[in-house]
Amino acid sequence: MPSETAAPPGARRDVLDAMADSRARTLALVAHLDDDALERVHSPLMSPLVWDLGHIAAFEDLWLAHRGAGLPLLRADLAEVYDAFETPRAQRGELPYLRRAEALAYLEQVRERTAELPPDPLLHELVLRHEQQHTETMLQTMQLAHLPAPHEPDLPAPAQPDLAGLTGLELVDVPAGPCTIGAAAEGFAYDNERPRHDVELPAFRIGRAPVTNGAFMEFVAAGGYRRPEWWSREAWAWKEQYDITHPAGWTADEREWRMDRCEPLDPHKPVVHVSWFEADAFARAHGARLPTESEWEKAATWDQETGTARPQPWGEEPATTTCANVDQRSFGTVPVGTHPQGASPAGCLGMIGDAWEWTTGGFDGYPGFAAHPYREYSEVFFGGDYRVLRGGSWATCARVATPTFRNWDHPQRRQIFAGLRIAKDA
Ligand SMILES: [Fe+2]
Repeated sequence: MPSETAAPPGARRDVLDAMADSRARTLALVAHLDDDALERVHSPLMSPLVWDLGHIAAFEDLWLAHRGAGLPLLRADLAEVYDAFETPRAQRGELPYLRRAEALAYLEQVRERTAELPPDPLLHELVLRHEQQHTETMLQTMQLAHLPAPHEPDLPAPAQPDLAGLTGLELVDVPAGPCTIGAAAEGFAYDNERPRHDVELPAFRIGRAPVTNGAFMEFVAAGGYRRPEWWSREAWAWKEQYDITHPAGWTADEREWRMDRCEPLDPHKPVVHVSWFEADAFARAHGARLPTESEWEKAATWDQETGTARPQPWGEEPATTTCANVDQRSFGTVPVGTHPQGASPAGCLGMIGDAWEWTTGGFDGYPGFAAHPYREYSEVFFGGDYRVLRGGSWATCARVATPTFRNWDHPQRRQIFAGLRIAKDA
């Protein structure tokens, strides 16, 4: 990630402008919330929102000022409080974290200093993306706490009639053959996305769209949560222990939470807030399985005609709201088929945005993995009890929504804006 060579001045300007835009959006995300909403622990799974703000500042100071430019930390006394690795989320409520006014001042003081530093656009990119990723985490907290969104949702035009009926059970064929997996060597990517490597996959089938609320409602109605034959033993034990009977965020009367609003379940929207356990059970109930990461990425990027992986399902252009439900505009999923321009060469819709998609395997490094810039970013999580999610959600910033990005969490977690896409052997 950090570059040995300075980028052209234009690129530096771009990243600084993007950092300024991003900061304005971070602040706007919580400006309407009162101090209690900002400072309280809403869930043992999540940090107080104001902790995220202080942590964003601390990370920027650490990487740009301290490690990048050799300056002493602005607030060495806060290093431990804001070290995500040292202090698990469950304990963050007890830390002496900065309250609203101090956290906002800290963000500003750090930015005043980092804005003056010599260019290292790749380090700046790391810091920018870190902030943007934390805003998705903050939206998870806001969703769990049923806090209001900062503005009315910006909703795209309705889906085309021929796509509006998709349920997520329709499959496309991906022929056997090679593909390349992972991020290209140039440009920004996280260590766990590299190195790019060739993979040979047998033919498989994969959902044309993510699984919808409608399909998931049918699974529930068909006794999906009462039929142990569809669940792994571990998943069943989890479901029984916590008395799980439907996706998180659904109510018993077929409504779902969208921030502070409880709306009737829209059968055409992708299901969200399911754990890997539930996603796996849904797939088994349909004689299917979750895709492997390689299958997912091949279905999202591989252009059979040219024998190359596209940077995005639709082509070269970064994610925009024309191609995908991304960038924290809709405050929820939108009906499948809303973004036909976002289709991948294989014909899959909604690979980027809307809902993260669980994949089947664990989280590990690619062959030849090298930790960069620090082991705690991904390497310490390899081989653990994690499953990988792909594609981003409506809450993922456009800049970070790429098909090679790998997110990971425990198989029982449901706070993520995560759904699924089914797959089958050909
Ligand atoms: Fe962080």
